[in-house]
Amino acid sequence: MEIKLNLLRLIALLLIRMPMAITLPETSCNRLKIGENWFDKKVVWAQSGRPYNLNVHKSTNSLFFSYSTPETYSDLDFQLVTINLDTGEKHTIAGIRGGCSVAIDEVNDEIYLGGTDGIYKYNMLTRLADFYKEKGKNIWSLFYKKNLFYISYPDQKLHIEIDEKFPLVEEFENIEMTHFHVTSDNYIYFANKTGLFKYNSKEMLFELINHLITVRQIVEDGDGELYVCTNVGVYILTIEGMVKILNVKNLYGLAFDRDNNLIYSDEKRIVKLLYSEKGCLSHKEW
Ligand SMILES: *[C@@H]1O[C@H](CO)[C@@H](O)[C@H](O)[C@H]1NC(C)=O
Repeated sequence: MEIKLNLLRLIALLLIRMPMAITLPETSCNRLKIGENWFDKKVVWAQSGRPYNLNVHKSTNSLFFSYSTPETYSDLDFQLVTINLDTGEKHTIAGIRGGCSVAIDEVNDEIYLGGTDGIYKYNMLTRLADFYKEKGKNIWSLFYKKNLFYISYPDQKLHIEIDEKFPLVEEFENIEMTHFHVTSDNYIYFANKTGLFKYNSKEMLFELINHLITVRQIVEDGDGELYVCTNVGVYILTIEGMVKILNVKNLYGLAFDRDNNLIYSDEKRIVKLLYSEKGCLSHKEW
Protein backbone atom coordinates (compact mmCIF):
# COMPACT_ATOMS: atom_id res chain seq x y z
CA MET A 1 0.00 0.00 0.00
CA GLU A 2 2.76 2.33 1.09
CA ILE A 3 4.75 1.56 -2.04
CA LYS A 4 1.76 2.04 -4.32
CA LEU A 5 1.11 5.51 -2.96
CA ASN A 6 4.70 6.51 -3.42
CA LEU A 7 4.61 5.26 -6.98
CA LEU A 8 1.53 7.32 -7.72
CA ARG A 9 3.15 10.37 -6.25
CA LEU A 10 6.24 9.77 -8.34
CA ILE A 11 4.16 9.48 -11.51
CA ALA A 12 2.25 12.64 -10.59
CA LEU A 13 5.55 14.43 -10.02
CA LEU A 14 6.88 13.21 -13.35
CA LEU A 15 3.77 14.38 -15.16
CA ILE A 16 4.15 17.83 -13.70
CA ARG A 17 7.86 17.99 -14.43
CA MET A 18 7.79 16.58 -17.95
CA PRO A 19 6.38 19.53 -19.89
CA MET A 20 8.98 21.75 -18.29
CA ALA A 21 11.75 19.36 -19.24
CA ILE A 22 10.53 19.38 -22.82
CA THR A 23 10.40 23.15 -23.21
CA LEU A 24 13.96 23.71 -21.97
CA PRO A 25 16.06 22.76 -25.01
CA GLU A 26 14.19 23.58 -28.19
CA THR A 27 14.37 21.22 -31.12
CA SER A 28 13.97 23.75 -33.88
CA CYS A 29 15.63 26.97 -32.95
CA ASN A 30 17.55 29.71 -34.59
CA ARG A 31 20.80 29.44 -32.64
CA LEU A 32 24.32 28.31 -33.18
CA LYS A 33 27.11 27.21 -30.90
CA ILE A 34 30.61 28.59 -30.52
CA GLY A 35 32.69 26.63 -28.06
CA GLU A 36 30.36 25.96 -25.13
CA ASN A 37 28.12 28.98 -25.73
CA TRP A 38 24.90 29.36 -27.67
CA PHE A 39 23.96 32.43 -29.67
CA ASP A 40 20.71 33.73 -31.13
CA LYS A 41 20.96 34.78 -34.78
CA LYS A 42 19.57 38.23 -35.47
CA VAL A 43 19.38 39.20 -39.14
CA VAL A 44 20.78 42.71 -39.62
CA TRP A 45 20.45 42.88 -43.42
CA ALA A 46 19.02 40.56 -46.05
CA GLN A 47 19.09 41.29 -49.74
CA SER A 48 20.48 39.69 -52.86
CA GLY A 49 24.19 40.39 -53.22
CA ARG A 50 27.07 39.22 -51.09
CA PRO A 51 28.08 41.53 -48.22
CA TYR A 52 31.86 42.02 -47.99
CA ASN A 53 34.27 44.03 -45.83
CA LEU A 54 32.24 44.34 -42.64
CA ASN A 55 33.54 47.13 -40.35
CA VAL A 56 31.96 48.73 -37.29
CA HIS A 57 32.40 52.41 -36.42
CA LYS A 58 32.42 51.79 -32.67
CA SER A 59 31.45 55.24 -31.35
CA THR A 60 28.12 55.19 -33.25
CA ASN A 61 27.78 51.38 -33.48
CA SER A 62 27.37 51.70 -37.25
CA LEU A 63 28.19 48.83 -39.54
CA PHE A 64 29.79 49.65 -42.90
CA PHE A 65 30.02 47.09 -45.69
CA SER A 66 29.80 46.69 -49.42
CA TYR A 67 27.67 44.26 -51.37
CA SER A 68 28.01 42.95 -54.87
CA THR A 69 25.43 44.03 -57.40
CA PRO A 70 25.52 42.07 -60.64
CA GLU A 71 25.43 44.79 -63.30
CA THR A 72 25.60 42.45 -66.23
CA TYR A 73 26.52 38.81 -66.45
CA SER A 74 30.15 39.62 -67.10
CA ASP A 75 30.59 42.58 -64.80
CA LEU A 76 30.27 42.76 -61.03
CA ASP A 77 29.78 46.06 -59.26
CA PHE A 78 29.86 47.05 -55.59
CA GLN A 79 27.82 49.39 -53.43
CA LEU A 80 28.68 50.69 -49.95
CA VAL A 81 26.03 50.77 -47.21
CA THR A 82 25.94 51.74 -43.54
CA ILE A 83 23.48 50.51 -40.90
CA ASN A 84 23.15 51.80 -37.37
CA LEU A 85 23.09 48.63 -35.27
CA ASP A 86 21.16 50.30 -32.43
CA THR A 87 18.37 51.89 -34.48
CA GLY A 88 18.44 49.85 -37.70
CA GLU A 89 18.68 53.06 -39.76
CA LYS A 90 20.20 52.34 -43.19
CA HIS A 91 22.02 54.59 -45.64
CA THR A 92 23.21 53.74 -49.11
CA ILE A 93 26.44 55.66 -49.64
CA ALA A 94 26.21 57.67 -52.85
CA GLY A 95 28.99 58.98 -55.05
CA ILE A 96 31.60 56.22 -54.81
CA ARG A 97 31.87 54.22 -58.01
CA GLY A 98 32.50 50.54 -57.30
CA GLY A 99 32.56 51.30 -53.56
CA CYS A 100 33.98 48.20 -51.93
CA SER A 101 36.53 48.97 -49.21
CA VAL A 102 36.31 50.40 -45.69
CA ALA A 103 38.84 51.34 -43.00
CA ILE A 104 38.05 53.11 -39.74
CA ASP A 105 40.44 55.18 -37.67
CA GLU A 106 38.64 55.14 -34.31
CA VAL A 107 41.19 57.42 -32.63
CA ASN A 108 40.75 60.34 -35.01
CA ASP A 109 37.19 59.31 -35.87
CA GLU A 110 37.78 59.05 -39.63
CA ILE A 111 35.93 56.67 -41.92
CA TYR A 112 37.80 55.91 -45.16
CA LEU A 113 35.99 54.37 -48.10
CA GLY A 114 37.42 53.19 -51.41
CA GLY A 115 36.17 52.36 -54.89
CA THR A 116 37.37 52.22 -58.45
CA ASP A 117 38.28 55.92 -58.45
CA GLY A 118 40.21 56.63 -55.28
CA ILE A 119 39.72 57.08 -51.53
CA TYR A 120 36.91 59.05 -49.84
CA LYS A 121 36.13 60.15 -46.30
CA TYR A 122 32.61 59.64 -44.98
CA ASN A 123 30.91 62.33 -42.92
CA MET A 124 28.45 60.82 -40.42
CA LEU A 125 26.57 64.13 -40.02
CA THR A 126 26.06 65.13 -43.66
CA ARG A 127 26.00 61.49 -44.86
CA LEU A 128 28.29 62.54 -47.71
CA ALA A 129 31.43 60.89 -49.00
CA ASP A 130 34.03 63.54 -49.77
CA PHE A 131 36.87 62.72 -52.14
CA TYR A 132 40.16 62.30 -50.25
CA LYS A 133 43.09 61.02 -52.37
CA GLU A 134 44.39 58.69 -55.09
CA LYS A 135 42.21 59.82 -57.99
CA GLY A 136 42.13 57.23 -60.75
CA LYS A 137 43.38 54.41 -58.49
CA ASN A 138 41.29 51.31 -57.97
CA ILE A 139 41.17 50.70 -54.20
CA TRP A 140 40.71 46.97 -53.57
CA SER A 141 41.15 47.11 -49.80
CA LEU A 142 41.77 49.70 -47.06
CA PHE A 143 43.34 49.28 -43.63
CA TYR A 144 44.12 51.74 -40.87
CA LYS A 145 46.74 51.35 -38.15
CA LYS A 146 48.55 54.59 -37.27
CA ASN A 147 48.77 55.08 -41.05
CA LEU A 148 46.31 54.49 -43.84
CA PHE A 149 47.13 51.53 -46.09
CA TYR A 150 45.50 50.39 -49.28
CA ILE A 151 45.83 47.52 -51.72
CA SER A 152 45.62 48.58 -55.34
CA TYR A 153 43.81 46.64 -58.04
CA PRO A 154 44.50 44.80 -60.33
CA ASP A 155 48.22 44.63 -59.37
CA GLN A 156 47.29 43.95 -55.69
CA LYS A 157 50.17 45.89 -54.15
CA LEU A 158 50.28 47.36 -50.64
CA HIS A 159 50.59 51.16 -50.35
CA ILE A 160 51.05 53.31 -47.23
CA GLU A 161 50.16 56.96 -46.72
CA ILE A 162 53.28 58.98 -45.87
CA ASP A 163 53.50 62.77 -46.20
CA GLU A 164 50.42 63.08 -48.42
CA LYS A 165 51.66 60.36 -50.78
CA PHE A 166 51.02 56.62 -51.09
CA PRO A 167 54.29 54.81 -51.95
CA LEU A 168 54.51 51.01 -52.09
CA VAL A 169 55.49 49.28 -48.84
CA GLU A 170 59.02 48.14 -49.68
CA GLU A 171 58.94 44.79 -47.86
CA PHE A 172 55.97 43.70 -49.95
CA GLU A 173 56.89 45.31 -53.27
CA ASN A 174 57.14 41.99 -55.10
CA ILE A 175 54.20 40.27 -53.46
CA GLU A 176 50.58 40.28 -54.42
CA MET A 177 48.23 40.84 -51.51
CA THR A 178 44.49 40.47 -50.98
CA HIS A 179 44.24 41.25 -47.23
CA PHE A 180 46.51 43.05 -44.79
CA HIS A 181 46.30 43.42 -41.01
CA VAL A 182 48.52 44.77 -38.24
CA THR A 183 47.44 43.61 -34.76
CA SER A 184 47.37 45.71 -31.59
CA ASP A 185 50.61 43.90 -30.64
CA ASN A 186 52.12 44.93 -34.00
CA TYR A 187 52.14 41.52 -35.64
CA ILE A 188 51.67 41.72 -39.39
CA TYR A 189 49.40 39.24 -41.17
CA PHE A 190 48.52 39.17 -44.83
CA ALA A 191 46.84 36.91 -47.34
CA ASN A 192 47.22 36.36 -51.06
CA LYS A 193 46.26 33.68 -53.55
CA THR A 194 48.98 31.42 -52.12
CA GLY A 195 47.69 31.52 -48.54
CA LEU A 196 47.77 33.25 -45.16
CA PHE A 197 51.13 34.54 -43.94
CA LYS A 198 52.69 36.23 -40.95
CA TYR A 199 55.47 38.69 -41.54
CA ASN A 200 58.31 38.54 -39.05
CA SER A 201 59.62 42.11 -39.26
CA LYS A 202 62.70 41.49 -37.09
CA GLU A 203 64.06 38.73 -39.30
CA MET A 204 62.25 39.95 -42.41
CA LEU A 205 60.76 36.50 -42.91
CA PHE A 206 57.44 35.39 -44.33
CA GLU A 207 55.95 32.55 -42.31
CA LEU A 208 53.26 30.48 -44.00
CA ILE A 209 50.29 29.86 -41.69
CA ASN A 210 47.90 28.10 -44.05
CA HIS A 211 47.76 27.61 -47.81
CA LEU A 212 44.49 25.66 -48.03
CA ILE A 213 42.11 28.46 -47.16
CA THR A 214 40.81 31.50 -49.01
CA VAL A 215 40.87 34.48 -46.65
CA ARG A 216 37.85 36.79 -46.81
CA GLN A 217 38.61 39.07 -43.87
CA ILE A 218 41.12 39.42 -40.99
CA VAL A 219 39.60 41.12 -37.93
CA GLU A 220 40.35 41.82 -34.29
CA ASP A 221 37.58 41.75 -31.70
CA GLY A 222 37.19 44.23 -28.83
CA ASP A 223 39.55 42.18 -26.65
CA GLY A 224 42.33 42.12 -29.25
CA GLU A 225 41.67 38.49 -30.24
CA LEU A 226 42.47 37.90 -33.93
CA TYR A 227 39.95 36.20 -36.24
CA VAL A 228 40.25 35.03 -39.83
CA CYS A 229 37.09 34.64 -41.88
CA THR A 230 37.67 32.11 -44.68
CA ASN A 231 35.77 30.11 -47.30
CA VAL A 232 35.65 27.14 -44.89
CA GLY A 233 34.83 28.85 -41.59
CA VAL A 234 36.08 31.23 -38.92
CA TYR A 235 39.37 30.72 -37.10
CA ILE A 236 41.00 32.35 -34.10
CA LEU A 237 44.70 33.04 -34.65
CA THR A 238 47.12 32.73 -31.77
CA ILE A 239 50.90 32.50 -31.57
CA GLU A 240 50.49 28.70 -31.49
CA GLY A 241 48.37 28.56 -34.61
CA MET A 242 44.81 28.52 -35.94
CA VAL A 243 41.75 27.16 -34.15
CA LYS A 244 38.48 26.81 -36.01
CA ILE A 245 35.53 28.19 -34.04
CA LEU A 246 32.83 28.13 -36.72
CA ASN A 247 32.72 25.26 -39.16
CA VAL A 248 30.71 27.05 -41.81
CA LYS A 249 31.19 27.45 -45.52
CA ASN A 250 30.26 30.45 -47.65
CA LEU A 251 31.04 33.22 -45.21
CA TYR A 252 32.10 36.53 -46.74
CA GLY A 253 32.74 38.93 -43.90
CA LEU A 254 33.23 39.27 -40.16
CA ALA A 255 33.12 42.15 -37.65
CA PHE A 256 32.48 42.90 -33.99
CA ASP A 257 30.07 45.55 -32.78
CA ARG A 258 30.56 48.03 -29.93
CA ASP A 259 29.55 45.37 -27.38
CA ASN A 260 31.85 42.79 -28.98
CA ASN A 261 29.02 40.74 -30.50
CA LEU A 262 30.15 38.76 -33.55
CA ILE A 263 28.64 39.77 -36.91
CA TYR A 264 29.10 37.68 -40.02
CA SER A 265 27.83 37.69 -43.57
CA ASP A 266 26.98 34.77 -45.80
CA GLU A 267 25.78 34.80 -49.41
CA LYS A 268 22.80 37.04 -48.82
CA ARG A 269 22.52 38.06 -45.19
CA ILE A 270 24.33 39.82 -42.40
CA VAL A 271 23.73 38.18 -39.03
CA LYS A 272 24.56 39.33 -35.52
CA LEU A 273 25.07 36.73 -32.78
CA LEU A 274 23.62 37.46 -29.36
CA TYR A 275 24.55 35.33 -26.36
CA SER A 276 21.72 33.04 -25.29
CA GLU A 277 21.24 31.22 -22.00
CA LYS A 278 19.26 28.57 -23.88
CA GLY A 279 20.63 26.00 -26.28
CA CYS A 280 19.08 23.78 -28.91
CA LEU A 281 18.58 20.02 -28.76
CA SER A 282 19.97 19.37 -32.20
CA HIS A 283 21.29 22.02 -34.40
CA LYS A 284 21.56 22.05 -38.10
CA GLU A 285 24.33 24.32 -39.23
CA TRP A 286 22.88 27.18 -41.24
C1 LIG B 1 52.09 35.38 -51.46
O1 LIG B 1 53.03 35.71 -50.45
C2 LIG B 1 54.08 34.76 -50.30
C3 LIG B 1 54.91 35.16 -49.10
O2 LIG B 1 55.49 36.38 -49.25
C4 LIG B 1 54.86 34.69 -51.58
O3 LIG B 1 55.89 33.73 -51.45
C5 LIG B 1 53.93 34.34 -52.73
O4 LIG B 1 54.66 34.38 -53.95
C6 LIG B 1 52.79 35.32 -52.80
N1 LIG B 1 51.83 34.91 -53.81
C7 LIG B 1 51.55 35.72 -54.81
C8 LIG B 1 50.52 35.19 -55.77
O5 LIG B 1 52.04 36.82 -54.95
